[in-house]
Amino acid sequence: MDRRQFIKLSSLFGGGIAISTQLTGCGATFQPDGDDYVPAATFTHGVASGDPTANSIILWTRAVPENNNSSGYVRWQLATSPDFAAPIRSGVIKAERSRDYTVKVDVRDLPAGQRYYYRFFTSETRSPTGQTLTLDNGVVDRVKFAVFSCANFPAGYFNAYDAAAKDNSVDVVLHLGDYIYEYPRGGYATANADAIGRSFVPGNEGELLNLTDYRTRYAQYRGDKGLQLLHQRKPFIAVWDDHEIANDTFMSGAENHNEGDGDFFARRTAAIQAYYEWLPIRPPMGDENPQIYRYFEFGNLVSLYMLDTRVIGRDEQLSLRNYKLANGSFDFQSLQRDINDPARTLLGSEQFNWLKKHVASGNNRWHVLGQQILMGKMHYPAEIIATTNRQAVPGVIAELMELRQKQLAGQTLTREEQQRLSVKIPYNLDAWDGYAAERDKVLKLFSQEGKSLVVLAGDTHNGWANTIADSSGNTVAVEYGTPGVTSPGFEGYLGLTDKQAEDLARALPLLIDEVEYCNLHQRGYMSVEFTLGQVNTAWHYVSNIKDTSYTVRTQHRERFVG
Ligand SMILES: [Fe+2]
Repeated sequence: MDRRQFIKLSSLFGGGIAISTQLTGCGATFQPDGDDYVPAATFTHGVASGDPTANSIILWTRAVPENNNSSGYVRWQLATSPDFAAPIRSGVIKAERSRDYTVKVDVRDLPAGQRYYYRFFTSETRSPTGQTLTLDNGVVDRVKFAVFSCANFPAGYFNAYDAAAKDNSVDVVLHLGDYIYEYPRGGYATANADAIGRSFVPGNEGELLNLTDYRTRYAQYRGDKGLQLLHQRKPFIAVWDDHEIANDTFMSGAENHNEGDGDFFARRTAAIQAYYEWLPIRPPMGDENPQIYRYFEFGNLVSLYMLDTRVIGRDEQLSLRNYKLANGSFDFQSLQRDINDPARTLLGSEQFNWLKKHVASGNNRWHVLGQQILMGKMHYPAEIIATTNRQAVPGVIAELMELRQKQLAGQTLTREEQQRLSVKIPYNLDAWDGYAAERDKVLKLFSQEGKSLVVLAGDTHNGWANTIADSSGNTVAVEYGTPGVTSPGFEGYLGLTDKQAEDLARALPLLIDEVEYCNLHQRGYMSVEFTLGQVNTAWHYVSNIKDTSYTVRTQHRERFVG
């Protein structure tokens, strides 16, 4: 194709926002001026794409100049066929040390509903070919998401990512956070790291605090073959949770940010910069701004709201510990009052108003919250929470199950037995349970307008299907929780065998009102397919994370007709 033909095509399709539109075939000579010429760059971490809309897509790669230059130009192409015989877009973009050599191109004015191939290259080297798409607009029959969270490199191999990469029915990946973890060698979930060949690289063994720390951790995670393949084959729509910064992050601090860790906001800025550099994301307010929440539309089928429940508007978490009275009893009343305090927020008013505006104006079939934490009420019988010896928990649950079965069989329980089942408290105040007033406000936004609401959540490392009721007890949404990619779940926390975890997973739906299904001990991912008639959700569990050999079992399916 000659230059004239290219100009004709680009005027047909509009332009990308890359620097140059000069086009030659791969391997042909290309010479931008002087020092910026890069004869060879190493594409160290493959390619990625993300934030697809009906007419745009972000393309990503990391290109390190061979001569150790601080910057250099690389070229890119986007085509509808894998041989790149007639690229419909191309350009040149500068890789710079100041951005950790990561580059992003926001290719715009593309035709909707198309599959694309893309690649980056210099005159001597070439990246792998990536696959991506633009979203359909208008009438859309189906779309399928693969949903992920909680990938912990030292805890295991990212086989769940690999499995989704090989599933041709998946259109788009939603990542709900904990894409990395900030912990040091010897920290959370690192016990098997050396044995399975997943130790941190030298120099990155401390807790992540500064820009170099975070960048190096991303680079190591992205060395995982499964993650690389998934990025290469599917576009990501991602939001962060807490561990991209520090455990239990809130607006002005984090549980895992202590006095010796320096200024919290400096750390957060570094963490966010590295996140924006390494993820194929289009930050709505630019690279310097921590605002990440954003909206995607899949024709008339799905309105997807990607929320930030961490950085923008979260008040500090409450702690159950603060409601224990000196006499050993528990102050239910004060806890109720605090979690229902309308002044406490998770989203904050700006994000809430943004959500409200979109909900009011959208008439799509399904409304989907892509967000970090469980929204369903995880209200456990108080006795379970009060059992501080974790090993004793399965025994307590077995006793309560016996009572519950008696109750379900119509047998009379004593007053004390009834109380053991009915007195419940929220277990995780870092989740929406700690922000009940705002949860109710969000649920009302959708229920008052008669919208079908599907909530997607990560964070717990376990699989969940919940129904969610508003404060008047009406069921107004369903929620699906994705298991972690590798981070240990309930089984790790309580030290359960597989058998015990399976027993517990059968018990929880009987003991917790809103839980319909759970899996408490297996790692994997969740797929959610939307059609006009229904939502089909499936939980896919990998058999192994200790090396890269694994099988996948789809253990549970839910169908929702809302
Ligand atoms: Fe996590």
